[in-house]
Amino acid sequence: MSRVHENHREDVAGRANVEDTPELLAYYDQLNKFEAGALWTVANKIEPWEPKSESVPVIWRYADLREHVLRSIALVTPEKAGRRVIFLNNPGRQDVSAAVGWIYAGLQVMNPGELASSHRHSASAIRFIMEGKGAYTVVDGHKMTLNENDFVLTPNGTWHEHGVSSTGTPCIWQDGLDIPFVNAMEANFYEVHPDLQQPVTFTVDDMTKTWGNPGLTPQNGNWSKSYSPMYKYEWAPTYEALTKYADCTDGSPYDGVLMEYVNPTNNGPVMLTMGASMQMLRPGEHTKAHRHTGSYLYHVAKGSGHSIINGKRFDWTERDIFCVPSWAWHEHANGSDTSDACLFCLNDLPVMRAMGLYREQAFGENNGNQPIIEENK
Ligand SMILES: [Fe+2]
Ligand SMILES: [Fe+2]
Repeated sequence: MSRVHENHREDVAGRANVEDTPELLAYYDQLNKFEAGALWTVANKIEPWEPKSESVPVIWRYADLREHVLRSIALVTPEKAGRRVIFLNNPGRQDVSAAVGWIYAGLQVMNPGELASSHRHSASAIRFIMEGKGAYTVVDGHKMTLNENDFVLTPNGTWHEHGVSSTGTPCIWQDGLDIPFVNAMEANFYEVHPDLQQPVTFTVDDMTKTWGNPGLTPQNGNWSKSYSPMYKYEWAPTYEALTKYADCTDGSPYDGVLMEYVNPTNNGPVMLTMGASMQMLRPGEHTKAHRHTGSYLYHVAKGSGHSIINGKRFDWTERDIFCVPSWAWHEHANGSDTSDACLFCLNDLPVMRAMGLYREQAFGENNGNQPIIEENK
């Protein structure tokens, strides 16, 4: 640890270490008048020794939020609200409305017979279905029926709308978008569909039926867009794949048995800016701790257990959502000795990898597990 502390000192050669004098302060004032500044006054802040996330590790428990999400049905209509969503507001990222890092997330609720108007934007989105029957989404004329733990894409620039059939039940799903990232890039456009609704022009669920068959690709299945043509990834085949893979792998010491959702045409991420995975923690499994760059939003799809993030323990159960900020130590534990637990994870790994910014480090001490400094947040 002493070497780590050494790295954090600023009074070393190569780092800015200029003390204020009356002459220098006057000089800084003069520069300021011309919208300029001396780098050495900010250098250590803007170039930290290692990533310093503004995001705070947070758990959003469904038991706390569900009733408030349902209450919004009586308070606003989807027409008035645009989208009826309660968003996850990380205390360190309220200035950009992010759940973690540059990722936005919210819980959206719709009653049977409701539908939101069609629109498109530069931000890409995912949806992860939490509860209810009869939910659907339409993306560029492709309608997808949605059930619990299904994962669906609405990529950058596609017309999309959501609704619940009149024979369904109230539905809640998690939205995840790269809005803060696209805003940071100052590249966000938003358009409402001129007809407010778009026609369904293909067979229902056609994209998953066409592209979602393991080890098989369709004849004449041309696809050149930057995102996955398999707009919907259903829970049953995902869980089956994890179960099969768990039969024949030791998995990762840090993640258990993890599979990434991919674009079936190139095995790359589902979209350019956001990726997703589902991981299984086998009965009794407690992973070792590590940290890496990138922002991660976990959604408990099955089971219960806890994660330790920067020394704090967060107990979770089905439908809870928690975040792991960039470069935060983390490890996960399944709370059951008889059932597996599954964590859905939305992340910005495609950006980190494409930009050459991904870095990872194992927690070497204490047999690979963090000492707990705060119990059960
Ligand atoms: Fe949208
Ligand atoms: Fe990790």
